[in-house]
Amino acid sequence: MSEEILKVEDLRTYFYSYTKEAFIRSVDSVSFSIRKGEVLGIVGESGCGKSVAAQSILGLITDGPGIISGNIFLTRNDKTVNLLDGLSDYASIRTKRKAILEISKDISGWLKRSESLMKGIRGKVISMIFQNPKSALNPFITVGDQISESIMLHKGIQAKKEAMAIASKWLERVQIDSPSMRLYDYPHGLSGGMCQRVMIAMALSSEPSLLIADEPTTGLDVTIQTKIVELLKKLREELALTILLITHDMNVIMQLADRIAVMYGGRIVEYGLKKEIMDSNSFIRHPYTIALLNSIPTIGEIKAKERLRAIKGDVPDTITLYRGCRFYERCTLKNDRIKKRCKEAEPEMIEIGTGHYMRCWLAE
Ligand SMILES: Nc1ncnc2c1ncn2[C@@H]1O[C@H](COP(=O)(O)OP(=O)(O)O)[C@@H](O)[C@H]1O
Ligand code: SF4
Ligand SMILES: [Mg+2]
Repeated sequence: MSEEILKVEDLRTYFYSYTKEAFIRSVDSVSFSIRKGEVLGIVGESGCGKSVAAQSILGLITDGPGIISGNIFLTRNDKTVNLLDGLSDYASIRTKRKAILEISKDISGWLKRSESLMKGIRGKVISMIFQNPKSALNPFITVGDQISESIMLHKGIQAKKEAMAIASKWLERVQIDSPSMRLYDYPHGLSGGMCQRVMIAMALSSEPSLLIADEPTTGLDVTIQTKIVELLKKLREELALTILLITHDMNVIMQLADRIAVMYGGRIVEYGLKKEIMDSNSFIRHPYTIALLNSIPTIGEIKAKERLRAIKGDVPDTITLYRGCRFYERCTLKNDRIKKRCKEAEPEMIEIGTGHYMRCWLAE
């Protein structure tokens, strides 16, 4: 088995909402790992904490009372660093019966420490692509200048001409038409799909150990989404990429991921190899995973541009301290035997098959 590049342990990311006058537990004790060369897909509906988890890994949680705790171990060249090392010295949480009463944080000390931990890592060792690539690119700088500047910064190349030549190669790799001409285009002249290809080229040009792709296809036309998925598939094979793929779209996960973490209400509720989770003979799956799978539109529905069949009900807020299972209200599979337990106690994550974990009383 290949080595773990990233190991996230008990990650918690909490914010204070001034409008709700309460603490939000966006990521609430999440653990997972990513092995070299694999694609780990984190899937869940909007608001489940996927992006906040990614931002936590990259040290991008800078908001005042925002706090993260746990460990994020990054391993490369046989060396392991904890990207949250020492941050707990700058923040503390006061709780009473699991409810958060107060978070105090030395913001400037925190930011200083976080920036020093992320130095040389963000954008270089771990790079990221987002939804809305158009707004992520600088509208005033040509595509070639943006990619070549990133190459000069992260690859230690000093000659602009050389960096531009490498940028052109990356544009070729992401299959942009006439790459050498595109170097001189500004982002506004490019389509959404082309901008995403540019973002992918830029993210990969630092030859990162880990690529985080947060909703890389969301907001693009369906045909373009398919092309971006195909491109990511091709690139991961050619370059043996390690990818943390975040999406609400089960279809994208099915096509790209090797392992899946299903996230709900700030927690991972199912985790394991895709082939095991998706195996139609699998005797057990988390009711939320089943609901997500059932919400995938059929080809006919996609063609008819029908609305996505959403799961009935809303994702839980993570302010309320639920006693029982966070999926209780929406779960259609709880039966009379376990109903009471589901309502009163939150299930622990238990191993139901080799490396396959689930948080549900049905698994008992
Ligand atoms: N900076 C922030 N301050 C307060 N709440 C936030 C912040 N960022 C995200 N959240 C909240 O955290 C929850 C998870 O958000 P997010 O990770 O963006 O969800 P997802 O990516 O799964 O759609 C949401 O309820 C969101 O409103
Ligand atoms: S613990 Fe109960 S309510 Fe929660 S997902 Fe499992 S069966 Fe449904
Ligand atoms: Mg998101």
